[in-house]
Amino acid sequence: MEKILVLDFGGQYNQLIARRVRDRQVYAEIVSFRSITPEQIAAVGYKGIILTGGPNSVYDESSPHFSPELLDLGIPVLGICYGCQLIAWMGKGTVCSAGTISEYGKVELVCDDSADSPLLVGIPQRSVCWMSHTDYVSELPVGFSAIAATAHCPSAAFADEARAIYGVQFHPEVTHTEFGGQLLHNFLYRICDCSGTWSMGGFVERSVERYRRELAGKKVLCALSGGVDSTVAAVLMHRAVGDNLICVFIDHGLMRKDEGDIVERVFRERFDMNLIRVNAQERFLGHLAGVTEPESKRKIIGEEFIREFEAQAKEIGRVYALVQGTIYPDVIESGAGDASTIKSHHNVGGLPDVIDFEALVEPLRDLFKDEVRRVGLELGIPSELVWRQPFPGPGLAIRIIGEVTPEKADLLRDVDAIFREEIVGAELEDRPAQFFAVLTDTRTVGVMGDARTYGYTVALRAVTTDDFMTADWARIPYDVLERASNRITSEVKGISRVVYDITSKPPATVEWE
Ligand code: XMP
Repeated sequence: MEKILVLDFGGQYNQLIARRVRDRQVYAEIVSFRSITPEQIAAVGYKGIILTGGPNSVYDESSPHFSPELLDLGIPVLGICYGCQLIAWMGKGTVCSAGTISEYGKVELVCDDSADSPLLVGIPQRSVCWMSHTDYVSELPVGFSAIAATAHCPSAAFADEARAIYGVQFHPEVTHTEFGGQLLHNFLYRICDCSGTWSMGGFVERSVERYRRELAGKKVLCALSGGVDSTVAAVLMHRAVGDNLICVFIDHGLMRKDEGDIVERVFRERFDMNLIRVNAQERFLGHLAGVTEPESKRKIIGEEFIREFEAQAKEIGRVYALVQGTIYPDVIESGAGDASTIKSHHNVGGLPDVIDFEALVEPLRDLFKDEVRRVGLELGIPSELVWRQPFPGPGLAIRIIGEVTPEKADLLRDVDAIFREEIVGAELEDRPAQFFAVLTDTRTVGVMGDARTYGYTVALRAVTTDDFMTADWARIPYDVLERASNRITSEVKGISRVVYDITSKPPATVEWE
């Protein structure tokens, strides 16, 4: 399969670069600059290499560097932002600090039409690009020439056409760069000579064939949460191993209102699969008693999940592998890439050291969320399940700030159900990608009738996003918020205040913990 290497130098847009490439039907994988050598890159046979953005100045000793041999492998290279400065550094050009006139945001890009570069085919002479830099390449290495400029960056794009090495100071992967998609398309199809073989239909076929072969005659256990990822993983594995798949749905008592029953019903009625429901509410809540620190909560829940599965597996007897719905962003955000660890997702970071299965099968670990959904549709999963809003593995535990208690979980379930009902009922044209309630640890004074109240503050959170890596807070109409607020304070005893979260990601995350 043709592949593009996204060589990760720690920039925040690395996943976005890989997604943009995959959107153009070419498989891209993110590998940290630390964990691969030029020899290994050559051995894989990548069609092209994209060097990502990253921190600071290439002249800082602590900044990530890479062997200049990379440029001599005969593989096309595109350096983005820090990646383009790194190309200049590798080729012994000069990178300068722009000092006080660093460019940030939308900037006019002027292409040099006379350069006739394949990278710029179809891009008008003047367009908008998105910049975020202080340093810039002031002197190009031998063999390179500038092919586009901005007011403050004379080599906003440069090329050594003979070796197919390119650098762009701006970010083609963000949508603010008007012709960024065209530029990436040019790199993939005109420069790397890709043919576009990455499709979800192909992925399903390859995966089913692979697991049918690898797991023939072996029992596998699937951790089912009812969320999109584990549903798709289960149906995919069911197609591969049929009745040898046993799905285990662990109800940790931190699901949304009535969710446990809904999940059970859907899987028994819609899919003809082996399903075991484990009611482990008391055990989970017992382990969480007195714990307030978010990472500890995640780790405890992750660990308890595995222990419950191990116990199930023992009862079932001779289970070979555990299937999990881990997806690519979980892997990257848990520190497998080079971007700093933000949160340890329970199905990766919280995994205990000793797992009592011979193998862990993660059929979706190379896929982004939108790809998982497309795989789901390929597999014939009903669209209402495929388009369900995501729900984190640790459930309401990371939406209850501070200690989790059964009473708080009940309170939050009621509040959350009202908010979701109001959003769905409002039939908004652009329904937020995720919307839920958070129970804060703060109690405030209120007045109800003639009496003073002292109840919890709940926060409502709704975000719009394509990929959950960045997100904007949703502009919910005031009347919808008002209805939700009125209903929450009047229908749920113990809540005296409702606030709406107007923070985007970054700087916040979608979940509060
Ligand atoms: P954050 O809070 O990291 O969330 O901006 C991004 C998306 O991931 C979901 N999320 C999780 N999903 N296990 C999961 O399966 C987790 O531990 C977890 N933490 C966050 C979150 O709901 C949002 O959709």
